[in-house]
Amino acid sequence: QEADIGLIGLGVMGENLALNIADNGYTVAVYNRTAGKVDAFLDNAGPLRGNVMGSGELAAFVGMLKRPRSVIIMVQAGDPVDAVIAQLRPLLAEGDVIIDAGNANYHDTVRRFSELDGTGIGFLGIGVSGGEEGARHGPSIMVGGSEAQWKNAEAVLTAIAAKFNGESCCAYLGTGGAGHFVKTIHNGIEYADMQMIAEIYGVMRDGLGMTPDACAKVFADWNKGPLDSYLIEITGHVLAAMDEKTGQPLVDVIVDAAGQKGTGRWSAIEALNLGVSATTIEGAVAARSISAIKAERERGEALYGAGMKGKATISLEALEKALLAGKIAAYAQGFAVMAKASEEHGWNLPLDTIAKIWRAGCIIRSRFLDQISKAFEAGSSDNLLTQPSFVSMMTESNGALRAVVATCAVNELPAPCLSSALAYFDAYRQGRGTTNLTQGQRDFFGAHGFRRIGEEGDFHHSWPSLVEGAQQP
Ligand code: 6PG
Repeated sequence: QEADIGLIGLGVMGENLALNIADNGYTVAVYNRTAGKVDAFLDNAGPLRGNVMGSGELAAFVGMLKRPRSVIIMVQAGDPVDAVIAQLRPLLAEGDVIIDAGNANYHDTVRRFSELDGTGIGFLGIGVSGGEEGARHGPSIMVGGSEAQWKNAEAVLTAIAAKFNGESCCAYLGTGGAGHFVKTIHNGIEYADMQMIAEIYGVMRDGLGMTPDACAKVFADWNKGPLDSYLIEITGHVLAAMDEKTGQPLVDVIVDAAGQKGTGRWSAIEALNLGVSATTIEGAVAARSISAIKAERERGEALYGAGMKGKATISLEALEKALLAGKIAAYAQGFAVMAKASEEHGWNLPLDTIAKIWRAGCIIRSRFLDQISKAFEAGSSDNLLTQPSFVSMMTESNGALRAVVATCAVNELPAPCLSSALAYFDAYRQGRGTTNLTQGQRDFFGAHGFRRIGEEGDFHHSWPSLVEGAQQP
């Protein structure tokens, strides 16, 4: 018996992906650097034992695979991926494909793809979202890389992905680093979604003086409406959880300093590099950074005092709508970054398909994404804020976002993502902005030139010198 696919790296994600493959009726061979892990995995495969095989020896592992071979690498992103590719390469042959399923920086994926280009061995960089449970029972899978060799792995990956109304949440999105780029933006949006939820929780806790349990009930209720999503659902559970040690609500004993592994930050960096405004995503990354300097924030509180407590007067309905409006802005930004990247790299990213494969399996799965997929179905990659169904949603909800941001400002509560979402929206709809002044300044100090309304060409003004005694124009 030969394995349909191979998997290297038996960490939690790798192990779960392998079991998911076996569970779907495919045979998977596994390899791990620490050979003991392979034996343990095979011993613990239980009823799936017949669909798994493996070896602690790389060549033997490769020998177990059906040709053309597909090998998934699920090891720590970065150097370990290159090390595995280097060992694997001499053992593979024309037509085989290496599939990196980790959270790679897409620049690395582009490099690995081109290093293998022309060798006959294909390379796929796939974004896998959904955490441990997703990996085991159905993640969202964003595929990029060698289109020719994609067919080797297509059946398996399509089968193990989550399903939305029967449709697989796995799709080939484009060449080179397209899959990992899309996963990066997924995570940037994930950061923004999470941060805006945290800001709304902040208004409830500090502005309205609500208990975690009261907040939990509101989120559970919102999960039945337009905000229906995995992140809102788990927020309800997190807020309702009690700490076994102290008997207090768990959120009240968790330190308010968040970690980050890089993908959120990369999405902000890519947005800046592409010249696309993604301030809500950037705000979410920055919010994690400021969360991490807890001791400094405590000194800040001693100097200035923290925000007012229990003084806000805002309805829960406004909070719900504000979150929806903020979400529209954040997703508009994320999709705008992907549209621009697609243009730059010639990826031809299918925005509707991306929204579709995010409807189930991944961390940002939601009812909202079904609406986005429909908006992009007509083929336009224009900003979400101009898509008719979203125009009406934003028209209806931006007032609440404004009210919530104003409440935060007056009550001294930080809301970096919600306020940047509002600022983005207000800037987006201002046909005549204020950078005419910026252009004047740039021309003043650097003769950068400006365009005149209704005229073609580059113009300069003769500015006076501010240096005393200098010759004036
Ligand atoms: C997912 C998650 C997953 C992970 C990220 C974010 O889509 O399943 O995004 O990939 O949680 O690494 O992690 P950080 O919050 O630590 O950056």
